[in-house]
Amino acid sequence: MRVNRKLCFVVAVLVPMSFFCFHMWTKSDKVVAVWNREAPEDLLDNSPLQPLEKYAGISLKWKSEVLELLPKSNCKCEAETTLDIPFRQELIGKPYAVNFTASMVPLGIDETHKRRELEYKKFLMRSYSPADKIIVAEANSPLQYPLQGVEVRPLKTILIPGLGLLDLKKKQNYEVSLSCTLGTLNVAAEVDSVTIKGAGEKQITLSSSLLDNLNRQLQLVSYSNTVFNPNTADTVQFQSDGHTATFTIKVRHPTIPKLYDMGPTKSKYNISSLVTIATKTFLRYDKLQDLIDSIRKFYPTITIIIADDSEKPQKIEGPFIEHYIMPFRKGWFAGRNLAVSQVSTKYVLWVDDDFIFCPQTKIEKLVDVLEKTSLDLVGGAVREVTGYYTTYRQIINVIPGDKEGDCLKTLQGYHHIIEGFPNCVVADGVVNFFLGRTDKILKVGFDPQLSVVAHLEFFIDGLGALHVGSCDDVVVDHASKIQLPWSKTKTDKEYSKFRYPKSSHAVTSQHKLFYFKNRLKCMTGN
Ligand SMILES: *[C@@H]1O[C@H](CO)[C@@H](O)[C@H](O)[C@H]1NC(C)=O
Ligand SMILES: *[C@@H]1O[C@H](CO)[C@@H](O)[C@H](O)[C@H]1NC(C)=O
Repeated sequence: MRVNRKLCFVVAVLVPMSFFCFHMWTKSDKVVAVWNREAPEDLLDNSPLQPLEKYAGISLKWKSEVLELLPKSNCKCEAETTLDIPFRQELIGKPYAVNFTASMVPLGIDETHKRRELEYKKFLMRSYSPADKIIVAEANSPLQYPLQGVEVRPLKTILIPGLGLLDLKKKQNYEVSLSCTLGTLNVAAEVDSVTIKGAGEKQITLSSSLLDNLNRQLQLVSYSNTVFNPNTADTVQFQSDGHTATFTIKVRHPTIPKLYDMGPTKSKYNISSLVTIATKTFLRYDKLQDLIDSIRKFYPTITIIIADDSEKPQKIEGPFIEHYIMPFRKGWFAGRNLAVSQVSTKYVLWVDDDFIFCPQTKIEKLVDVLEKTSLDLVGGAVREVTGYYTTYRQIINVIPGDKEGDCLKTLQGYHHIIEGFPNCVVADGVVNFFLGRTDKILKVGFDPQLSVVAHLEFFIDGLGALHVGSCDDVVVDHASKIQLPWSKTKTDKEYSKFRYPKSSHAVTSQHKLFYFKNRLKCMTGN
């Protein structure tokens, strides 16, 4: 019995431990440069417009309507009037152009510019993948190879599909070679009458007097990734008799899904288990209470998350309410970040603390859009007391510029209507009332450096990452914004002091962020 116990101890403890040690000892001490990606050259290539010498004599007629659409070598921001209607300025604001460089001059532009460009260079190196590079297949190549779609997990091995040689000339000997940089090449089997050189190395050469045998051998060529550098690509060169073909093999982990369990439900959408309402408050407890009361009329069990950075926070209590207190004046976006980070449902509905739910605030409709389309975020409409309602649909363009930076152009409007949802459109930016996929919103995040006057910034950061829509048939009311000076309460006055600061400090810091973080030099809008 005793002996048996001892034996058990040895087996149960020492064996796993020795495996553990073995594991530690087999840890690779290979040193790998993970910065070895090429940064791309200037993407703007208008060289086809200047012909090669041998084509210079060929006459042509330029089409200016197409030339105008091509990217220009440098962007400019000039306010342009897009439509001229009476009361335009009162209704939709006037066109504007802002120069961020000019805001930076008093802050020491030269040093900041140098730092920004250095960071930008690193960003390009980090975000660039060799798989994004343009590869041209030269004419008349007898080589057959995969154009795209070949993928390998980091440090794993695959057979390269689709390799072949179609040599029409009868030859004594056929030879091909393959080379790569982030891995090694080998063969899964050796075919008769084929000579193999460099198996297991970065370059492999296969030759044979029999074309069929060589082609059979090509089907069995394997690639092993040896440099763990996730989310990049290896560029493979395939050569034979003066012909060269280049293709890429993507190296990456699979995308890990992040799924939310909606739970069992009989109705179509159980809003309480699908959606959390998030808001940020500052001083305006009366307005916040109105919002909560209005939500409870329609959604009695939905969770409401409140981020609060008031100086003397008041208690907000009730079922399904989470109240997070932050340091005084931590700011607008910091509060949004905090609130959204606490959401555990699939969707989050963003509302301002002075909104009021009404019978047209149908969250189900917004959920339906996100469930049935590839959109990540969909905005509604905010109705003012005047009855006028706004969706604040924006189109955002970043136009390539020069060393000073790129140009940001925002336009009121949208891209197109969404099929099956006649009230919904695709845009780049929407109003402060939106439903979004929680994980996607967290990925973009709200930059906590923006303490006041911010909204569009989130959509600029999300450009290309967030697929945005807007529906004007889901409406929330806005507690009166138009107020007579003498009807303002003490809280209102204090609130406006912080929310609409008189100093230009907030504006300058916003310009600084545009200038440095987004590498923009100026902005226009209408
Ligand atoms: C912005 O202002 C700076 C300094 O005043 C000037 O050098 C620059 O050319 C301007 N940039 C644009 C895009 O207008
Ligand atoms: C909806 O979800 C909530 C929270 O997950 C749950 O308590 C409730 O029973 C569900 N209601 C229905 C009708 O399924």
